[in-house]
Amino acid sequence: MDNKMLRTAACLLLFLSGMCVGERILPLGPFNGAVAGTVKFTTTLTPAEKPFLTVSWSFKELNIITSTSTNNTGPGYANRISLDRATGSLELRNLVMEDSGEYTLTITPDGQLQKQGMVTLNVYVPVSGATIISPAAILIEDKSSTNLSCEASGSISTRVWTKDGRPLHASDRVSFSINNRTVFIQPVHSSNHGTYYCRASNPVSTMTVAHNLTVNFGPHNISITGPSAAAPGSRVTLQCIADSVPPANFSWMFNGNETQVNNSMYVIERLEAESIGNYTCTAKNMVTMRENSTVLNLRASCTTPCWSFLVLLISALSLRGFM
Ligand SMILES: *[C@@H]1O[C@H](CO)[C@@H](O)[C@H](O)[C@H]1NC(C)=O
Ligand SMILES: *[C@@H]1O[C@H](CO)[C@@H](O)[C@H](O)[C@H]1NC(C)=O
Ligand SMILES: *[C@@H]1O[C@H](CO)[C@@H](O)[C@H](O)[C@H]1NC(C)=O
Ligand SMILES: *[C@@H]1O[C@H](CO)[C@@H](O)[C@H](O)[C@H]1NC(C)=O
Ligand SMILES: *[C@@H]1O[C@H](CO)[C@@H](O)[C@H](O)[C@H]1NC(C)=O
Ligand SMILES: *[C@@H]1O[C@H](CO)[C@@H](O)[C@H](O)[C@H]1NC(C)=O
Ligand SMILES: *[C@@H]1O[C@H](CO)[C@@H](O)[C@H](O)[C@H]1NC(C)=O
Ligand SMILES: *[C@@H]1O[C@H](CO)[C@@H](O)[C@H](O)[C@H]1NC(C)=O
Ligand SMILES: *[C@@H]1O[C@H](CO)[C@@H](O)[C@H](O)[C@H]1NC(C)=O
Repeated sequence: MDNKMLRTAACLLLFLSGMCVGERILPLGPFNGAVAGTVKFTTTLTPAEKPFLTVSWSFKELNIITSTSTNNTGPGYANRISLDRATGSLELRNLVMEDSGEYTLTITPDGQLQKQGMVTLNVYVPVSGATIISPAAILIEDKSSTNLSCEASGSISTRVWTKDGRPLHASDRVSFSINNRTVFIQPVHSSNHGTYYCRASNPVSTMTVAHNLTVNFGPHNISITGPSAAAPGSRVTLQCIADSVPPANFSWMFNGNETQVNNSMYVIERLEAESIGNYTCTAKNMVTMRENSTVLNLRASCTTPCWSFLVLLISALSLRGFM
């Protein structure tokens, strides 16, 4: 604060003496660097016809390098800077956290007014070791709750969550801790099943980590795909489907009687009079212990073969003594 005021005052004096002209010789910044990395403060200046009389860089009022006819390098900078005498640009290597702060460049061109620029450098520890931690538990929809925590090392500026490639939004069941470190899901819903990604980042590095969250749910949305009518003698395939995690176990009933089919698919090799009726599929989830059923009423379609089918049906019934 004091420094800033001093500088402003100094600039005002320089300005009054005609030295602090508005020309910007360094980009607005801030510059960002990684620990152990390199930053280059590139000036907006082009090499002058006559070399600058002095080029001087300082950090928090301490000399980094003052280059006149000789070079005076500050302690700790000898092996980690390169100065471009023609433009005033400075490269700083082997960055440490303590290099964060404000840098000042002062240039005295030959036969011109002195120029000064300032720029801020922020040094960050790269993000590493990111992982999503979640309590190990069997989650059942509407009954269980869980948390996902995004842990990482380094200077973490932001954490952003996505699920199955879409941004993860807060909802009545999903909420975030203040810094997005933890996602609370209470209680879990079938829509919370899937792959979660946390992207932890700072201006110089980013790391994304994935986690599969298993929410056991269902069976929901059970249905039978297949014809409701088929020609006598034809092969008919009924397929039972349900949304379920883990996948549901299926069983079939025909006209209220158990069948030997415990499979999502029920095949009628040859449609006959005896196979006309109600097919019930039951889906059971062995983890949620819930089950759901649906019925398909299968009829014979009366196209040309229907006649012969009816004849068969009548003869079958008469054989049983109904006629
Ligand atoms: C000072 O450093 C600059 C930039 O590295 C270099 O070009 C110049 O030759 C050096 N001057 C002396 C006197 O060593
Ligand atoms: C989730 O985090 C909250 C707050 O830290 C805690 O009270 C709750 O027990 C956690 N729930 C689970 C399932 O870990
Ligand atoms: C938290 O997440 C939101 C939305 O995903 C993002 O806009 C925001 O920058 C994040 N905040 C932090 C501190 O990471
Ligand atoms: C999540 O599941 C998918 C598909 O089952 C698998 O390919 C992927 O490797 C899993 N990811 C993690 C982080 O376990
Ligand atoms: C059931 O179907 C509806 C409508 O198609 C869909 O919105 C819902 O996500 C389905 N449920 C599950 C658990 O997949
Ligand atoms: C349910 O199906 C799974 C695999 O699909 C099988 O391993 C398991 O034995 C079945 N359970 C019952 C009770 O039928
Ligand atoms: C269904 O079960 C009843 C008795 O439980 C039996 O009388 C009938 O024959 C059965 N029907 C078929 C088609 O198996
Ligand atoms: C089919 O499943 C039922 C209950 O779901 C069971 O009682 C029956 O033994 C199973 N039959 C076969 C052939 O697996
Ligand atoms: C099939 O179900 C329907 C409606 O549930 C019922 O009216 C019909 O009698 C049933 N058919 C047989 C053969 O059980």
